[in-house]
Amino acid sequence: GAPVDVDLAPIAEGQAIKLFWRGKPIFVRHRTKKEIDEALAVDVATLRDPQTDQQRTKAGHEQYLVVFGNCTHLGCIPLGTAPGESKGDFDGWFCPCHGSHYDSSGRIRKGPAPLNLPVPPYAFTADTKIKIG
Ligand code: FES
Repeated sequence: GAPVDVDLAPIAEGQAIKLFWRGKPIFVRHRTKKEIDEALAVDVATLRDPQTDQQRTKAGHEQYLVVFGNCTHLGCIPLGTAPGESKGDFDGWFCPCHGSHYDSSGRIRKGPAPLNLPVPPYAFTADTKIKIG
């Protein structure tokens, strides 16, 4: 699939969007300071799929999180992107299919999913523009 350019400027702090790349959903969240602080405060050694928040974001652009939007259990699309949807117990996403909770870094914290929401290949091309793929 071709790379896709995404303008992040319209995504207000605390909001997220869903888009599709190569037929798969991708979430882009503009995280609040609280969400970033929560993600950084986690003891990585306690995680099922241990990854630091820094491994999952781009330096200098920590307010943006970009992840694939399919639950790593059986592929449902978790809630937490549209306004008013449950973000689960860890300010991230909640998969209602079997109750997986992802944190504000997209890491699995509770429920049956085995892995974090993967980060797709992407790069910043400007302060508020990314190219996915
Ligand atoms: Fe998400 Fe099962 S598909 S918890």
